[in-house]
Amino acid sequence: MSKKYQLVVKLINERIDRQSYQPGDKLPSIRELSTQLAISKNTVIRAYQQLEASQLIEAHPRSGYVVARRASPSIATISEPGYVDLMSLSKEIMSLPLSRHVLAAGSAHPDTDFPAIRSLYAEIGRHSRYQTNIPSHYQLPPGNEELIRQIVFLTQDLGITTSAKEILITHGAQQAISLSLQAITQPGDIVLVESPSYFGNLLLLESLGLKVVEIPASVTTGIDLKALEQALERWDVAAIIINPSFNNPTGYLMSQPDRLHFLDITHGIPIIEDDVFGRLAYGHRPSPLKALDSENRVIYCNSLSKTLDSRLRIGWVIAGQYQHQIEKRLMTDNMGSLNLMQSAVGQFLTTGKYRQHLSKIRKSYSKKHRLFYQTFTMELDHYPQLKNQYHLSQPEGGFLCWLTLPETADSNAIYRDALQHDITILPGNMFSTQSQHNHCIRISFATFEINDSWTKGLKTLARIIASHLDTR
Ligand SMILES: Cc1ncc(COP(=O)(O)O)c(C=O)c1O
Repeated sequence: MSKKYQLVVKLINERIDRQSYQPGDKLPSIRELSTQLAISKNTVIRAYQQLEASQLIEAHPRSGYVVARRASPSIATISEPGYVDLMSLSKEIMSLPLSRHVLAAGSAHPDTDFPAIRSLYAEIGRHSRYQTNIPSHYQLPPGNEELIRQIVFLTQDLGITTSAKEILITHGAQQAISLSLQAITQPGDIVLVESPSYFGNLLLLESLGLKVVEIPASVTTGIDLKALEQALERWDVAAIIINPSFNNPTGYLMSQPDRLHFLDITHGIPIIEDDVFGRLAYGHRPSPLKALDSENRVIYCNSLSKTLDSRLRIGWVIAGQYQHQIEKRLMTDNMGSLNLMQSAVGQFLTTGKYRQHLSKIRKSYSKKHRLFYQTFTMELDHYPQLKNQYHLSQPEGGFLCWLTLPETADSNAIYRDALQHDITILPGNMFSTQSQHNHCIRISFATFEINDSWTKGLKTLARIIASHLDTR
């Protein structure tokens, strides 16, 4: 039989693996844990000493024990290659009508209540009236010339060296990622993704008959690079999809050194960089992987869905060495697309209003995040079964955050209960092919305001979450 201290080591290990404890999190004090588990302080001390020796936790002079910055989940949490089966769950959740919800915190649509969005739709109106004056034609790839010119400028802002010849306009980032996968993989190939991972990308793997290996990713620092290296040693990998800046769902931001290390260990493998939240940094953001890529193998996918409006369906791909294959598919996929939208958005981008808008929304989301975090954690902390037992991510950009609850929480049941109260959130199991995130919830604070609807909604949500947890 295991000794008591070994059981404590196992418990803390599991909490780190399942991300209930994140790198940098303070662990319960020796006294707290000995009371909570009804064991002696010496048992806790021995367990903490063993965890410290394995470099999973660190003793900090004034704050006690904290989870090490590089606490790596065990190899067991890397999934075996398998097919995705998320279509029915995602369809059910995504097709819910938005209007009846008191608090729509489930979807990842941006806040559209800004003057620039009104100008944009006025521009679309003008272009729409003009259509009968020009002969009908297909907007063939690569896409509208002015739009591409403007996207070159926007891309150069991020330190990516590019030119109009390298950009293909797509139907949102979704089509950019889909065509990229089609160009570089065959059904049955293995694609590595982060876990948790944006469900739209998992659905693409499902529909293309690709196998997925999920690599654990921390809520703060992103994909576990040691686990990634181990997976690359074990399997032949056709591609990696990564969303390293203000990740959906967790909001994590990969550091510059980690980006360089990531490129180093994935040498030669095509990388699909999904950067749809990348322009929403509250402060500084590291360079996109594309800007650091010396092998021309990063396929950079982006869109205006998170910064302007997802209804535009304007995205683009900068595909490096895979451009030709992707352009061929883009051509035959829909024989050109969205003439009106491409020309109107191209014109709108020439006005300079988009850059002003970006600077406004960054500030707005940063403020929303601060207030949302304060309000929601205050509500959660009212419940003893939640206080110090959850982790709410604090992104440095974007408008999504990830709530990690104690392992016994069933986010699907919480999701269904919340829906009965007209509150939408997304359950963690939408972001993986396995059940390891079923105790997590994704919440969008894009439309957060200090008003009755949000204040009451978050109070109710905290009550529902607490009601699903053991009070012992
Ligand atoms: C991480 C991520 N990638 C891609 C997409 C798809 O974006 P688009 O609306 O441009 O197709 C989304 C949309 O939610 C997303 O969150």
